[in-house]
Amino acid sequence: MDQVTLKADLDALTTAQNVSMEEINPVTGLTTRERLLVQRSWQELLKLGRSTVGIEIFDRYFTMFPQYIQAFKKFRDIPVEKLKSHPRLKAHGTTVLNALDSIVGRWRCFRFYFVPPSFNH
Ligand code: HEM
Repeated sequence: MDQVTLKADLDALTTAQNVSMEEINPVTGLTTRERLLVQRSWQELLKLGRSTVGIEIFDRYFTMFPQYIQAFKKFRDIPVEKLKSHPRLKAHGTTVLNALDSIVGRWRCFRFYFVPPSFNH
């Protein structure tokens, strides 16, 4: 990951003096500047690889909230110490990353994803 380019881009977005940067999206409550900061950071994160990031997110999530492993039919029978390296976690992590990418990447259409009943779980 090119930390220098990322930092330069984030600094430029943070300090850009443009009135449209302060426009607030009524659905997300985020300004244009905030959306662009998230999208630029997300783009950089994906360079690590979707399955790598997906596995890491689930590993951290299940470490913080182990009780939610039981919610997943496909994980509940896997011993917890084997979960991080299990192919099912990799597959699910990649699916969730793809779903997140379609949301973050097409954020201008955010309402279609997050206004019920489209987002129902
Ligand atoms: C923005 C956050 C989330 C996204 C983008 C997301 C995305 C997805 C997707 C795409 C699937 C379908 C996977 C498949 O068909 O194989 C799924 C399934 C599921 N999600 Fe999420 N999810 C999110 C948050 C959560 C959270 C916080 C929970 C809480 C436990 C959760 C619980 C589940 C469960 C239980 C399933 C069914 C898995 C199974 O078949 O065993 N999700 N999610």
